[in-house]
Amino acid sequence: MTSPRTTLSLVDTDPAELAVDAIVIGVHSQTGEQDPPGALLLGSGAESIAAAFDGRLTETLALLGATGGPGEVIKLATLGTITAPVVAAVGLGPEPTGAAPAPETLRRAAGAAVRALAGAGRVALALPLPDDDDAPAALRAVAEGALLGGYRFAGYKTRPQPTRREPVAEVLVAVPDAADATATAEVARAQAVTDAVRLTRDWVNTAPNELRPPAFADAVAGAARDAGLDVEVLDEAALAAGGYGGIIAVGQGSEAPPRLVKLSYTPAGGGTGKRVALVGKGITFDTGGISIKPAQGMWEMKSDMAGAAAVAATMLAVAALKPSVPVTAYLPMAENMPSGTSYRPGDVISMFNGKKVEVLNTDAEGRMILADAIARACADGCDYLFETSTLTGGQVVALGKRISGVMGTAELCERVRTAGDAVGEPAWPMPLPDDVRKGMESDVADISQVNAGMDRAGHMLQGGVFLREFVTDEVAWAHIDIAGPSYHSGEATGYWTKGGTGVPVRTLLQLVDDVAANG
Ligand code: BES
Ligand code: MN
Ligand code: ZN
Repeated sequence: MTSPRTTLSLVDTDPAELAVDAIVIGVHSQTGEQDPPGALLLGSGAESIAAAFDGRLTETLALLGATGGPGEVIKLATLGTITAPVVAAVGLGPEPTGAAPAPETLRRAAGAAVRALAGAGRVALALPLPDDDDAPAALRAVAEGALLGGYRFAGYKTRPQPTRREPVAEVLVAVPDAADATATAEVARAQAVTDAVRLTRDWVNTAPNELRPPAFADAVAGAARDAGLDVEVLDEAALAAGGYGGIIAVGQGSEAPPRLVKLSYTPAGGGTGKRVALVGKGITFDTGGISIKPAQGMWEMKSDMAGAAAVAATMLAVAALKPSVPVTAYLPMAENMPSGTSYRPGDVISMFNGKKVEVLNTDAEGRMILADAIARACADGCDYLFETSTLTGGQVVALGKRISGVMGTAELCERVRTAGDAVGEPAWPMPLPDDVRKGMESDVADISQVNAGMDRAGHMLQGGVFLREFVTDEVAWAHIDIAGPSYHSGEATGYWTKGGTGVPVRTLLQLVDDVAANG
């Protein structure tokens, strides 16, 4: 299932003399203020290569059509001028005045370059890296981009694909000092982080018939045990006995029964910091149930477990990176199917925290399983709770395919936004309005699952408002709706490949670091 892993190391020898299959340099686009006008600007790091070309490198690249635009990769045969047989120039956009490119620019460029060089065994990156305090963040970005751009889902094709080139096996990153401790630590972190992102992508891209709740729970539990995490798996009998009405209701329409997987990481000595709980939506396939979805595009609902996949993979990275705070994950898993045993509109469900929910639309299943998992996390005890889910089509309508929606405690929402901004996974805070809660008053139960008038106004916000009912007062929480950003249906771009993106793994790991550092 898993795609071959790219390895990454640092070098500090002259890039012009590196024995690699291709060397990547950065080029900035024309700004109109250059001399001569319209010239490409070479990114720093490529000086010795430019010298080997007698100063004619940018001119040659321009002849080959290079504009320096973001994402552009132009390859050039070096014909003996330098050791590597190919130079690949990756576009970085306009040069930021007096500064190195932003980390996300470097991350996308490294991803685009490594992706374009599929088929090459060994590739070196000589990209512009700052030599000041920004150096570690820039190196982290380049390493992450390169390792993620090299991702490819193994897939299920039974015949060899002669035109398909293998992902790059080995990446070298040119830095001033390859033995520098900070730099080596950044590479090790990037490996752990991108392993988690890649595993998330693999799980999301796996066919839904191969990853029904029991199989998904087994895969997660096995990987977590191997990583040294504590694992608890509740099966359908344990869920029923434990009062997890929401998870049982959604799972009861499928022959593949639901699960709740709990993973715990405890730092050496127990840790004194705030206790972090992570919750992820694990609907292994969402047909909508009795409130069935239209056929068009329904297959994409194989990605409805992207939140659980991201949280599980994040826990594996936590086990490897060993932060000083305790982190516990809760992964409710169910398959939302229509059948003679399905839950139905009109049902009233008794949830884990005792609240009664009136079901109005079985396609609003995510909040049903998440509510139980959130209530369990609060019952176990936590200080911060981050929950992530492909919860609403409304998120995509409001914020598009790149920006996640965040709802919850104001301070924590802001921390999610800042963390997302730092790692290139943008997220935007959204409100939890009183009138939306009023619209969810039920005639018979404590709350309706969606707006009783079934109108879609504030669709994404209804999800957040519902989940809030299951968070206890002392817990600061944030709900991250990743319906759009977790899955990329278009062609590969930057370090995003087609299919699962791995959002929000890097945000969650950044948040764990943030809590470890700042409480
Ligand atoms: N899994 C879907 C949300 C979704 C939509 C994720 C598009 C990714 C892309 C969720 O379970 C769902 O069906 N939501 C409904 C909610 C409605 C019934 C209140 C929706 O968005 O229409
Ligand atoms: Mn649904
Ligand atoms: Zn769903």
